[in-house]
Amino acid sequence: MPAETLTIVDNRTGREYEVPIADGTIRATDLRQISAEEGDGGLMSYDPAYLNTSSCRSAITYIDGDAGILRYRGYPIEQVAEEASFLETAYLLLEGELPTAAQLAKWEADVRTHTYVHTNFTKFLDGFRYDAHPMGMLLGAIGALSTFYPDAKHIGDPESRYLQRVRLIAKMPTIAAFVFRHSRGLPYVYPNNDLGYIGNYVNMTFEIGGKHEPNPVLQRALEILLILHADHEQNCSTSAVRSVGSSHVDPFSAVSAGIAALYGPLHGGANEAVLTMLDEIGDVKNIPAFIESVKAGHGRLMGFGHRVYKSYDPRAKLIKKVADQVFEQTGLNPKLEIALELERIALEDEYFISRKLYPNVDFYSGLIYQAMGYPTDYFTVLFALGRLPGWIAQWEEMLNDPEQKISRPRQTYIGYDVRNFVPMNKR
Ligand code: ACO
Repeated sequence: MPAETLTIVDNRTGREYEVPIADGTIRATDLRQISAEEGDGGLMSYDPAYLNTSSCRSAITYIDGDAGILRYRGYPIEQVAEEASFLETAYLLLEGELPTAAQLAKWEADVRTHTYVHTNFTKFLDGFRYDAHPMGMLLGAIGALSTFYPDAKHIGDPESRYLQRVRLIAKMPTIAAFVFRHSRGLPYVYPNNDLGYIGNYVNMTFEIGGKHEPNPVLQRALEILLILHADHEQNCSTSAVRSVGSSHVDPFSAVSAGIAALYGPLHGGANEAVLTMLDEIGDVKNIPAFIESVKAGHGRLMGFGHRVYKSYDPRAKLIKKVADQVFEQTGLNPKLEIALELERIALEDEYFISRKLYPNVDFYSGLIYQAMGYPTDYFTVLFALGRLPGWIAQWEEMLNDPEQKISRPRQTYIGYDVRNFVPMNKR
């Protein structure tokens, strides 16, 4: 058996080092022993944007980007999306195993018991401007939960962590619905705990005058979309949750950092950007010129490309199926025609093929959300609702990992050497 080690020769000194390999990684700290001269601190690895750095050992989600594989706790996403409810998926991510009927019933009951928010919360939301971006409101509101539940700071206590987990999963739909209603100047609708998790959320969002006709096909479609977003290992927002959580702040604050990361157009904001892009294209006949401008470096084809998937995003495949079911109910979305043609052309174009740029989960999700009646700037809130169980599962895994410490990357300093301060009159 060959040794599971890496031999490194430092050509500056001629010295040789042997560092262990475990799970296909070497430890960056093992490089510190490699030093050219006394006091240089040893070698570091330089990896802006973490392109090739494993920041943790995780048992939650497995992705093989080249093969287009995504699994939650070992279960293929296709099976989870087909068979499970959203709360069942959340349980799986958080607990590591599928729940028994009794465990699921308890989990659902716990969540149902915590769907209400303190009435002061509505005053807090009222303080936002009428046109406040829903993601800005959501991140502020979830951060504010920490002030309503100061006991959440007891992050070392598993019972307290469970309670905050339940609170977050239970209250996020209520807050997300309040945010939706605030944007439209509609009175808030409180949770109706006779309804299921998704039904309750949709009712709080769309009920008018005590009436809302639920459409089971659209509700299941929304549930599938949330399941598809429930975790995606160490993406930008999850890394933000882990990194902020590593300071041992409460989970509401850590999750609001995740929401902030998700707000950005390169991450969760991409489905919003897809619709803006489709609006700008305006007509199928404008697609070739648009593709040429992207290839010339003027902007990106939003909803295409992924840091990890270098083949078709498995979630995008599932979403396309959901889109068909939704559009059968709601009628065709005029932008869908542009999207389908855009995808067809891009998938045949050498520029996109050679860079392995395929549609990602956001390419179709925005079109579906729009058909369901959600405004464009609200799409990322739905992404956040879906991603929440993943954020909490990853946060708890980080806390329980004895190897994790406060997150604190190093840097390569490239600035001035020491120089004397110049007084104002000499500058
Ligand atoms: N349109 C056109 N060209 C693209 C696109 C795109 N969407 N994405 C990447 N490229 C090109 C880059 O210009 C670069 O080309 P070059 O080698 O000639 O310079 C090459 O492909 C590699 O791109 P990177 O930016 O290095 O890839 P990275 O892994 O850093 O980016 C990202 C991934 C941010 C998702 C990128 O593909 C992108 O901006 N896509 C559009 C936004 C989007 O859809 N985001 C959603 C991501 S999925 C999610 O968050 C759920």
